[in-house]
Amino acid sequence: MTMQGWADLYAWQLDRASRTPLSRQIYVQVRSAVLSGALGAGTRMPSSRAMAAQLGVARTSVVFAYEQLLAEGYVESRHGSGTFISGEVAALASRRRRAPRTIKRTVVPTLARVFPDFERSAVQDEARPFNTGRTLIDARTAETWRSLTHVAVRRLGPNDFGYTDPAGLAELRANLCDYLRVARAVRCEPDQLVITAGTQQAIDIAIRVLLAPGDEVWVEDPGYPLTHAQLLLAKVRPYAIPVDAQGLIVDAGRRTAPRARVVFVTPSHQFPTGVAMSMSRRLQLLAWARQSGAVIVEDDYTSEFRYSGPPLASLQGLDDAEQVIYVGTLNKALFPGLRIGYAVIPRPFLQAFIGARYLIDRQPATLQQAVVSEFMQQGHFAAHIRRMRQLYREQRDALAETLRRRAAGALEVALPDQGMHLVAYLRDGSSDMAIEAAARRAGIVVRAISRFYRKARPRPGLMLGFSGFPRQLIVPAAARLATLVANGGRD
Ligand SMILES: Cc1ncc(COP(=O)(O)O)c(C=O)c1O
Repeated sequence: MTMQGWADLYAWQLDRASRTPLSRQIYVQVRSAVLSGALGAGTRMPSSRAMAAQLGVARTSVVFAYEQLLAEGYVESRHGSGTFISGEVAALASRRRRAPRTIKRTVVPTLARVFPDFERSAVQDEARPFNTGRTLIDARTAETWRSLTHVAVRRLGPNDFGYTDPAGLAELRANLCDYLRVARAVRCEPDQLVITAGTQQAIDIAIRVLLAPGDEVWVEDPGYPLTHAQLLLAKVRPYAIPVDAQGLIVDAGRRTAPRARVVFVTPSHQFPTGVAMSMSRRLQLLAWARQSGAVIVEDDYTSEFRYSGPPLASLQGLDDAEQVIYVGTLNKALFPGLRIGYAVIPRPFLQAFIGARYLIDRQPATLQQAVVSEFMQQGHFAAHIRRMRQLYREQRDALAETLRRRAAGALEVALPDQGMHLVAYLRDGSSDMAIEAAARRAGIVVRAISRFYRKARPRPGLMLGFSGFPRQLIVPAAARLATLVANGGRD
């Protein structure tokens, strides 16, 4: 693909003090732009008149340079339409640039070595069952989204073209607050809500605001790898605290890292086990935070999709000491490409949180916020959640039923009350990593749950996303996976 107009923007530079003639300088610059790849094949050069005006030189200097470039094959002239960088020379130059060279190896700083870990989660763009983190957008939502986007584009005005509130658009914050009060029993006023680019950014800001290098924090074990990696990146010391059937074991946390300043938890649907934190653990955790002055960061991802069991209110709703930061995401409720999430911040940290958000990337983009806000305001959000809840429940049931029917002896399927994935534990204790690799060879994406353990002894299992795939894809893929597991990893 050739970007037209690039040559007009190229930083042509002439040295008027030099003894090299101006036409020669122009010739040399175009040649080096072609050889370096800055101007690719097919790029249109400015007309000699425009180039002369831009550079403040006589037109003949440009004509002379262009003629030489033409003679040597760097550019070609197309009758009536102008002068273009030649495809042949650009291709030769590109081949030369790609040729192997001996380069001194750069040493990667120790801290940056946590980055390769991220590759694992970056594979979430794969559209095959049972990849996690994928959502379905039905035709109704897609159509509504398109038409609300058109309206927002038509309304684009001075407010969108300038800088806006770093905490986000007032109307979106008000709509989100209404939703959170009703659906999640969150205690919130719109001015306490900060729009972020998703959970990832909300957690990043929380780390920057609440922690200093060397501080101790608790994370769940097994737990969400991205939070753990973000903590390492901030030179904070994460302590892995085990999780059981009631959620994070608060007593273990007290014993392991009594001086922890922050705890990161997923209480309504523990990542990755799917366990909901019991009321007694919630109260223990809040009591610990109150006594020790620690802050709880509640990651309430996928809480929109609850299928069975009593509705669980947020942990934040139980907090009367302003010690919980509540983090939610629309990247799961709607779609990951949206990159919009939010955090409800206790007043004592609010200004710091907004300040940090501003320093990181000023503000969220206005257009998408306006679309989401209208989507909520007009009731489409509630309707979308209702429809997807029904759909995802059917997909969850189809997956669980197929696995149970076909591999009951080999797999124990934990049916989650909420969320977008389930865990199928391996009964005979065989290696989930081996099954993950075998499944991949068979074209099925599963995530070995042992990847998410730190200190605790892993219970081998497979994390299977069901939200992103229609029933027609889930059933045959689940049947193949069941056969594979039942045969100990052989297809
Ligand atoms: C535990 C957890 N929290 C949050 C998210 C969502 O992150 P984001 O809003 O940055 O897309 C995910 C996505 O995989 C998750 O697994």
